[in-house]
Amino acid sequence: MRYSSSVFATAATLAAAPLLASARPIQNRAAASANVALVFQFANVLEQLETTFYQQGIAKFQAADFQAAGFSSATIPTQILTTIQGDEAAHDTFIQQALTANGVTPLTCTFNFDSGLTDVATMAATARVVEYVGVAAYSGAANLLDVPNFLDAAASILTVEARHQSLLNILSGTGSAIPSPFDVGYTPQEVLSIAGGFITGPCDLGLNATNPLAVTNTGAISPGDLLTVSATGVSGTDNLFCNIIVGGANASVNLPLAQCNVPAGTNGPVSLWITSDANPIPNDVVARATIPTIAGPAIFFVDSQPDALSQLVRSTGVSTTNGTSATDNNSAPPTAPPTTAPQSIAALAALQTSKKTVTEQCAADSECQQGCCGFSSGKCAGPDVAQSNGSGGCGQGNTSPNCDVATLLGFSDCVAGVVQGNLQDPDVQQAAAFAAQLDNLPFTPSK
Ligand SMILES: *[C@@H]1O[C@H](CO)[C@@H](O)[C@H](O)[C@H]1NC(C)=O
Ligand SMILES: *[C@@H]1O[C@H](CO)[C@@H](O)[C@H](O)[C@H]1NC(C)=O
Ligand SMILES: *[C@@H]1O[C@H](CO)[C@@H](O)[C@H](O)[C@H]1NC(C)=O
Ligand SMILES: *[C@@H]1O[C@H](CO)[C@@H](O)[C@H](O)[C@H]1NC(C)=O
Ligand SMILES: *[C@@H]1O[C@H](CO)[C@@H](O)[C@H](O)[C@H]1NC(C)=O
Repeated sequence: MRYSSSVFATAATLAAAPLLASARPIQNRAAASANVALVFQFANVLEQLETTFYQQGIAKFQAADFQAAGFSSATIPTQILTTIQGDEAAHDTFIQQALTANGVTPLTCTFNFDSGLTDVATMAATARVVEYVGVAAYSGAANLLDVPNFLDAAASILTVEARHQSLLNILSGTGSAIPSPFDVGYTPQEVLSIAGGFITGPCDLGLNATNPLAVTNTGAISPGDLLTVSATGVSGTDNLFCNIIVGGANASVNLPLAQCNVPAGTNGPVSLWITSDANPIPNDVVARATIPTIAGPAIFFVDSQPDALSQLVRSTGVSTTNGTSATDNNSAPPTAPPTTAPQSIAALAALQTSKKTVTEQCAADSECQQGCCGFSSGKCAGPDVAQSNGSGGCGQGNTSPNCDVATLLGFSDCVAGVVQGNLQDPDVQQAAAFAAQLDNLPFTPSK
């Protein structure tokens, strides 16, 4: 079997964010309503979360890790992430002072970011979600802030979180900096549903999070793709509906869960809820809070219109030739540094189209579009076979582990031979992910 280099990123689905501040001290004890106290307390938790996330991420990764994730220069992401971390710490300090000045004891939480900091690609994807949720949290809380100078303070933070979001869209390498003229707000309960996955310590906000929802598609998500989900209490698809909300929409696109396909033309962040009702849910935090939902929101990105700027900053092994990228398939797609993956998947796929497709009979890897002729089956095979030797792996007619797929993909550092012990090896997974993209197949990583 075959393979090689660089970081394999799974789409990060957890995240978090904030609610308020300005550089001016805020003291308005008499006027501070219960809602305002809640919003500030909530903002405090989310700013702590963000600050801790960036501190740990910046401490963990070195320049080489950023380069391995496809960044053209490690300076670009480290400079931006360090600036963001400084902003979040300033927000955190400001909000704690505001709480204290108004007679509220700030909560202190503990966090676990193991799942969001496995590698640079995962960190970048997680940060992108975190900042999106930050924007959604501040905008969704505006209606709760009935005291003008608190509202001003919140707005002064919101604009900065939105700048962070744009930069993280760019650092994805596949996103649009400003994908939509409008954002979608979340209720505090919805924000907590997403952020709660990172909160481990006892910091009771007195809020019940909505039922967390995970999108279980692997790899990039494109317009037209069928979404699959996981949530407590959700099994099967009978009598369940998915509700897709994008910025600017008045209400959700409501679809039977079994036909939950991403609408054509979608680009940017997408919020998803599950309901038991065929009526759309409103894109309005006040109205939505009164409507029963079964789970959600989940947030994911559809990168169908990548900015040239994103592609300049970070190579994700995707065609960049004319601005209409061939991939819209991921918020955190498999990433290969240009030094080891000189050809884009689109270019490779074009070269391979005359070859045999999956399940056609073959005698050698070189006969198959995706470079894998099943060792046991003698049929062209996809990523499942490429990443597993259980069914014999690839390499029909040649018992020696080989680098056929790696060579096809233009990698120079092939790890020849998938064995049971390295099925989860990032290099192996990376190669299988590329094989999947090459053949436009969904990619399921080895468990
Ligand atoms: C949270 O849910 C529990 C159990 O349903 C309920 O008793 C409690 O009142 C809820 N708390 C809030 C703040 O809604
Ligand atoms: C927007 O949705 C609300 C319900 O949430 C509805 O009353 C209103 O008519 C909708 N507006 C438009 C323009 O569709
Ligand atoms: C641009 O890219 C798209 C998608 O890969 C392709 O269909 C189109 O032919 C390309 N146009 C040019 C001028 O290369
Ligand atoms: C993969 O499986 C085939 C058939 O069972 C075996 O001959 C081959 O040595 C295996 N390759 C590796 C790298 O384990
Ligand atoms: C994205 O992946 C899906 C399968 O998951 C595939 O049907 C679709 O064609 C892919 N889109 C592109 C642009 O490669």
